[in-house]
Amino acid sequence: MRKSVVASLLVLGLAAAGAGMAEQAAVSGEHGMVVSVQYLASQVGADVLKKGGNAVDAAIAVGYALAVVHPAAGNVGGGGFMTIRFADGRTKFLDFRERAPQLATPTLFQDKDGNVIPGLSEVGYLAAGIPGTVAGFELAREKYGTFPRAALVNPAIELAEKGFPLKEGGDLDFIKEVLKDLAKDPEAARIFLTDGKNVPKAGTIIKQPDLAKTLKIIAAQGNEGFYKGPIADAIVAASDAHHGILKKADFERYVPHEREPVTCTYRGYTVVTAAPPSSGGTTICELLNIVEGYDLGKLGFHTAASIHVLAEAMRHAFYDRNSSMGDPDFVQNPIAHMTDKTYAKEIRAGIAEDKATPSASLGSVAGAAREGQHTTDYVVVDKDGTAVSVVYTLNDWFGSKVVATGTGIVLNNEMDDFSAKPGVPDAVGLVTGENNQILPNKAPLSSMSPTILVRPDGKTAVVVGSFGSGTIITSVAQVLINLVDYHMGVQEAVDQPRIHQQWLPDVIAYDKGAFSEQVARQLEAMGYKLSEGTIAGASETIVVGGDKVSAKSDGKIYGANDRRSPVGAAVGW
Ligand code: GLY
Repeated sequence: MRKSVVASLLVLGLAAAGAGMAEQAAVSGEHGMVVSVQYLASQVGADVLKKGGNAVDAAIAVGYALAVVHPAAGNVGGGGFMTIRFADGRTKFLDFRERAPQLATPTLFQDKDGNVIPGLSEVGYLAAGIPGTVAGFELAREKYGTFPRAALVNPAIELAEKGFPLKEGGDLDFIKEVLKDLAKDPEAARIFLTDGKNVPKAGTIIKQPDLAKTLKIIAAQGNEGFYKGPIADAIVAASDAHHGILKKADFERYVPHEREPVTCTYRGYTVVTAAPPSSGGTTICELLNIVEGYDLGKLGFHTAASIHVLAEAMRHAFYDRNSSMGDPDFVQNPIAHMTDKTYAKEIRAGIAEDKATPSASLGSVAGAAREGQHTTDYVVVDKDGTAVSVVYTLNDWFGSKVVATGTGIVLNNEMDDFSAKPGVPDAVGLVTGENNQILPNKAPLSSMSPTILVRPDGKTAVVVGSFGSGTIITSVAQVLINLVDYHMGVQEAVDQPRIHQQWLPDVIAYDKGAFSEQVARQLEAMGYKLSEGTIAGASETIVVGGDKVSAKSDGKIYGANDRRSPVGAAVGW
């Protein structure tokens, strides 16, 4: 197990901005910290903190900057969630998830025989939900920010006008992944491809003058300009021209929500996390409640016994998630039940010591959603101790792969997070129920889990998020477990290989090197099927008061950019 090295930087510090960096160190700051998957965006956030902005101000500025320098997932054409914990202990959860347009129906992506039409919910204007990011950032800024809007959007405008270099390990890789679809949309192709058809060379500077113009409208007019003015008009016109169903009234109707975060305790710490329409927080709490009954430290890191416990907890939590959760404006979510410690104890009683539980034995679920793996997350702590975790997304890389003419805005394909048809397992096998069927103005179920861990003494300990669909849930939980149960330093905790079990398919997916051959054979003897791959999801993480979670504070803030994000950076101040 490799050791994390803690580099103390008294002034603005930058770590791990280089592509493919295998060994990187946590960064420490005296006054603040920003960690995101793109080094330029992290720097924008740190600059806002340095100028006296609070963590909410910095989070908004990072969000707009990522829309420019990480266009595959950063966005103004998507949506997401923000968890805030103020220095005085108050917590807030902002829901700016996309909503289905008014003309959407449960059978939108089915043919006349009721078969799901491949790709229809993934590419093009029909795949897009009404974006929530601008409204969410405006809600956050008006209620909790201190800087004027323009000061938070201007750094993004500058980046869009001056351009940024495409790098391996960052958006260059994501362009390669979706080249065929990007090439089909003339606007997307013009902005992101060389000669409108080829993958750009590494180091190519991408300028986005149309997006700069759009950001100037947002800077000047906020929600008015986006939802009621020229930006909505341009998106609706493009949608009308390409068989979409997005209407001006859908934009005018869009409102973000301020909700109570889901909370639970884990070994004396308080977990403050995402509420529905994210399933993430509730599922993380159920998972942690189950594993809390075992001494993971004693079982050892990634032994057969500890992986068995983790996998069973994931299996049970995901079954409950998939069978019962949805948009809280449409569905009664069983949050109290799923986060109940007595319920966790009942589940533990049914877990055999040395035998895998067949997933099918838990039940079945009608309905499916092919959840996109391609989201982004970032975390901020300011000098007063206010902490912000944001996870926002276009769903897949470059969302629906379309850019409305003249706007520079990449639209999400979040409609794909709904169940396209009851009873059909999805492309990655993640199965959700009718609770998640498409209805007008409904939000699709999400896994995004911006999470904050609070010490028993009431001080913020950990600020964490992740990307990667359902693996967001298991990644955030494993980072917390690595910090709390295995006492790892923050860099080591995020860089560790992970496992993932999501009820169906009935396998444990695992990062290469997650455990030894001997452990693999032991798990197989217990009845597990194993699948080596790459567990998606950089978990950008901050630990406050020490490189490790501990009762004593050294007064510093430590940020770790996950090795899975080679162009990310922790920037401390
Ligand atoms: N689109 C990924 C998520 O919301 O979880």
